[in-house]
Amino acid sequence: MTVAAAFDVEAFRREFPALLGKVAGKSLVYLDSACTALKPRCVADRLHAFYLNWGGCGGKRSTHLLSQQVEAWFQEARAEVAGYINAEKPGEIVFTGGTTDAVNLVASGFRFAPEKNEVVVTDLEHNSIVLPFKQAEAQGRVRLRFCPVTERGPDLSALEKIVSKKTALVAMARSSNVLGGSFPVHPVAKLARAHGAKLLLDDAQFLSSHREDVQASNADFVAFSAHKLGGPFGVGVLYGKEHLLNGLGHYRVGGGTVKDYSVGNGQDEVEPVYLDAPMRFEAGVQNFAGAAAFGDSLRFLKRQDPVALRGHIRELVGYAVRRLREVAEIAVLGAEETLREGSLVSFYPTQASFSAKDFNLFLNHELKDRFIAVRIGDHCAHLLHKRLKLDGTIRLSFFAYNTKSEIDLFMDALERYIHEACR
Ligand SMILES: Cc1ncc(COP(=O)(O)O)c(C=O)c1O
Repeated sequence: MTVAAAFDVEAFRREFPALLGKVAGKSLVYLDSACTALKPRCVADRLHAFYLNWGGCGGKRSTHLLSQQVEAWFQEARAEVAGYINAEKPGEIVFTGGTTDAVNLVASGFRFAPEKNEVVVTDLEHNSIVLPFKQAEAQGRVRLRFCPVTERGPDLSALEKIVSKKTALVAMARSSNVLGGSFPVHPVAKLARAHGAKLLLDDAQFLSSHREDVQASNADFVAFSAHKLGGPFGVGVLYGKEHLLNGLGHYRVGGGTVKDYSVGNGQDEVEPVYLDAPMRFEAGVQNFAGAAAFGDSLRFLKRQDPVALRGHIRELVGYAVRRLREVAEIAVLGAEETLREGSLVSFYPTQASFSAKDFNLFLNHELKDRFIAVRIGDHCAHLLHKRLKLDGTIRLSFFAYNTKSEIDLFMDALERYIHEACR
């Protein structure tokens, strides 16, 4: 029997300077990585070195040595991302501003037909999935359908009834930013295929502790953000199979997206000739530094044993769920066995005297020598909260740098707050 290697959390933590320093004289307990992950030293170093020593423009505009180097880094980062998610080739990776930008690209560019214009999302989706398709609906291009969810995730039997030959696209998160867990992708991909629909996966939360294999998942499009993986802000990815990317209409156009103009005899007979994907979507000067640093964050994550890392997160989530369930004044969303497949857990107060806002203030200001960062509110998933009839939730989310003792610190704080406010 082979025994899985333990994850070396202390070595991992040492790469995150924010965990080692103090903010306003206090140590940080960071349980908000679903919002954004802290950044490893290699990412900060790369951005610093780029702007300090390079700062040139890639994208084949200028061709001097500085630009050639920056462009080479940009394309290396593209190849790194492609390798990370097992895309067939780097050309399937479009750099975007983030998950939101990637989903907007699909919502604007997808060619819906009048008889095949339905987009199916689930009630748990982040606003960045729902709203771009809501806009497409307002433009009369789409009919948006909502699949119900339970506390454990999308209701797959309801999904089977909603997806039909009218469905053009199914768009859903592989992991919810409120309910946690991770959802089976194969039955959804199979269902979509059976009806000639495409599948767009939102991997913004999934990738922080799972590895995606886009070929095995059989998704047509996958969107994610660098900053949730320790990379910089303002960089994200739309993965798509090459022919599907080339079949999308334009979203933003501009410099870097055309190879030529065809010009007729009349003064106004001007037609742009666009480049193929991914360049046809990467309009304007790109975030060259951000993409290069994103590549570094993926290289850093790739050096970790994925099984050990997942095991570590699974243990953290399981431990947090068990401890939270012992507290009478709150209710945890979801079941331990499904939550353990994600990287977060959310709960809500069951007593009127427990104020999430006050609790947040307490975590920030009332603890000696430290503060604890969690997230309270709707987490950009307003619809889910509405459907579950909840005003908001309190979310603990983990990255590989978190430890059980940080959960203990949170639990001590929670029990103290309840003791002072509710009993
Ligand atoms: C599930 C999910 N999808 C999409 C997004 C949007 O990501 P971004 O704001 O990086 O575009 C988030 C961010 O919190 C998320 O949690």
